[in-house]
Amino acid sequence: MAIEQTFSILKPDAVGKNKIGAIIQRLEESGLKVVAARMIHLSQKEAEGFYAVHRERGFFADLVKFMISGPVMAMALEGENAVQVYRDVMGATNPKNAAPGTIRADFADSIDENAAHGSDSLENAKIELAYFFRTTELCPRTR
Ligand code: RTP
Ligand code: MG
Repeated sequence: MAIEQTFSILKPDAVGKNKIGAIIQRLEESGLKVVAARMIHLSQKEAEGFYAVHRERGFFADLVKFMISGPVMAMALEGENAVQVYRDVMGATNPKNAAPGTIRADFADSIDENAAHGSDSLENAKIELAYFFRTTELCPRTR
């Protein structure tokens, strides 16, 4: 299987609950490696641009409002099959449907405040990584 990079955001609810470390521990235990990380408080424009694919959806305004409600931790994660591995570790979008032991089951309260974002494809991972990180800020892990 190929080594991939995927994009992660620990959302304002998870950061607000002081769960950055607990969630990164889950990611590391699943074999994913952090290859870039930055704390950022998104502006409305940045959040709207990031979630532009959802702009026609009924939940878009609430999603943007939530994503700018506090700082987030943006990360690049690397590993074998990283896109799917990270989606599996996150769990279903709605924490009520998320399997026990997943990040959303254990750290999220609702579909609106669901603790983490993860790219849904390798193609989108590349786009999202480029939205937040310069190529030189990604540090492929050699050990
Ligand atoms: P994400 O992009 O944040 O990793 O989440 P996802 O792929 O699992 O879900 P997606 O369909 O991309 O939706 C993006 C975020 O919008 C919120 N949402 N609310 N109220 C609703 O029906 C609804 N549907 C989606 C969620 O916070 C979701 O993470
Ligand atoms: Mg998505």
